[in-house]
Amino acid sequence: MTKGSFLTFEGIDGSGKSTQARRLAERLRAGGREVVLTREPGGSPGAEEIRRLLVEGSADRWSPETEILLFTAARRDHLEKTILPALERGAVVISDRFADSTRIYQGATRGELRTVVDQLHALMIGREPDLTLILDMDPALALSRGLARESGEDRFESMGQDFQDQLRTGFIQLARRFPLRCRMIDGNRDPDIVADEIMAVVERALR
Ligand code: ADP
Ligand code: TYD
Repeated sequence: MTKGSFLTFEGIDGSGKSTQARRLAERLRAGGREVVLTREPGGSPGAEEIRRLLVEGSADRWSPETEILLFTAARRDHLEKTILPALERGAVVISDRFADSTRIYQGATRGELRTVVDQLHALMIGREPDLTLILDMDPALALSRGLARESGEDRFESMGQDFQDQLRTGFIQLARRFPLRCRMIDGNRDPDIVADEIMAVVERALR
């Protein structure tokens, strides 16, 4: 086991993960902790290169199987180069998405792929977060937040609201399957209130 703590944010696109991950990092740093704030897909130079292949272009650019392999390759590099070294130093690692995103996004429309995702995870990643904060909210609201950004990284957002509804259901089921590790947070509130609740949950977990 490593010395640090590994925290992840999950949830549908536009649910406020990046905002809350940043705020949590700021608060923990102000309390004197070393924090590594990172994200997936990406989080290391090699994984950021793979990210571009994944988030740009048309929705049917990759088959679901190829997509799972690309996400796993990116995650392996992120784990080796960024996450594990930081945890070994004793840092708090906050990742905006991790393996749960693959479980839910790549398994959302083809349930049988969940087995492939779980097998690849066991073979190549084999590490779960200590705590996962799942930001839950109405996909219609989240989608309007997300598309307003117009970042050019909208390959998944462009898949539409039915897909986002399936994702939300998937995250709710995930929280039930891993009740010790996962906490559902209502993301449809003032960002300060959401940040306060997250800080309280994290302080308890880091004690
Ligand atoms: P995600 O990382 O989950 O896609 P972001 O943190 O990037 O979400 O937030 C998406 C958009 O919604 C951003 O423009 C952000 O400023 C805005 N936003 C984030 N949290 C809230 C909130 N609690 N209420 C209203 N808008 C928010
Ligand atoms: P991200 O940059 O977190 O998007 P957002 O800020 O809009 O939530 O992630 C890019 C997209 O990649 C996002 O739509 C979710 C998707 N994704 C997967 O499909 N599988 C994965 O394993 C990961 C990490 C992300």
